[in-house]
Amino acid sequence: MLRLPFFRGKTGVSREKPSKLELSGEIPTHIAIIMDGNGRWAQKRNLPRAAGHRKGVESLRAMVEACLELEVKILTVYAFSTENWKRPKEEVDILMNLLVEYLQKEINELDRQGVRISPIGEISRLPVPAVRQLEKAVKQTAANDRLILNIALNYGGRAEIVNAVKEVARLLVNGELAFEEITEEVISQHLATKDMPDPDLLIRPSGEYRISNFLLWQIAYTEFWITDVLWPDFRKEHLVEAIRAYQKRDRRFGGLRL
Ligand code: IPE
Ligand code: IPE
Ligand code: MG
Repeated sequence: MLRLPFFRGKTGVSREKPSKLELSGEIPTHIAIIMDGNGRWAQKRNLPRAAGHRKGVESLRAMVEACLELEVKILTVYAFSTENWKRPKEEVDILMNLLVEYLQKEINELDRQGVRISPIGEISRLPVPAVRQLEKAVKQTAANDRLILNIALNYGGRAEIVNAVKEVARLLVNGELAFEEITEEVISQHLATKDMPDPDLLIRPSGEYRISNFLLWQIAYTEFWITDVLWPDFRKEHLVEAIRAYQKRDRRFGGLRL
C-alpha cells in the first residue's frame, strides 16, 4: 500500500496579511535552491574557497529564517552533489566539516523553531561524523512540521531515479506490484521527496543556466529564477525578489489560460 502524499494538490498558500518581509500574495509551498558561487565569492576577495563555503552557511541560515517567516512549508537546498566528490579531498573535507559544525551549532535552535531536518541523497556514503550528526538531527526534529529542510547531500537526480527504478523492480520481482501498476505516482513515491509536492520555485544564484543533476524528476513544472548574486551574498531580500518574480508567472502546466 502506498501512502498518499499529504501535500498533494497544494501549490501555494495565499496570505491575507503581509509578513515582516513585506510580501503578500501566493507564497510557494516548496522552494529549492542550488547554493552555488561560494568559490567565486572567495576568489573575488582573494580568500581561500573555504571562506566562501563558511559564508554560505550564513545565507542558509537567512533562508531558513525567511521561509519560517513566510510560511514556506518545504525548503530543499543542494549542498553536495554526487559529482562534487571530484573536487580536491581538502575541499570535500572542509564541506563535510562545515556540515557537522552547522548541525552541531544550530540543531537546537532549528528544533525550537519547528524545522524538520530531512537529508536527501546517498547519506550512508558520507564520512561517519556527518552521518552521525545527520541521524541525530533527523531524530531530534522528526516531529516538527513548520518547515521541512531537505538537505541534498551526495545527491544526484539521476542516482535518485536509478534508485527508484531498482525499488520498483524489486516490488515487481516479488510480485508486490503489477507491471500495469507502474505509474508516475509510484515512481514519485520511491524518490527521496516522496509525500512532498514538487518544488514551485527553483533558485540558482551565481548566474549558471543549468540544473547540475538537481531534482531532475521533480522540476517538471517548477518555475526557475536565476540571479548573478553569489550564494554567500544571498539574503532575504533576494528571496523576496525571487518570490515576487514567481508571483508574476503564469503557470499553465501545459494547459490554457481560460
Ligand atoms: C557551491 O559553491 C558549493 C558546492 C558546490 C558544494 P561552489 O564551490 O561550486 O562555488 P563556485 O561555483 O566555484 O563559485
Ligand atoms: C551544484 O553546483 C551543486 C551544489 C551547489 C551543491 P556545482 O558548482 O557543483 O555545479 P556545476 O559544476 O557548476 O554545474
Ligand atoms: Mg559551483
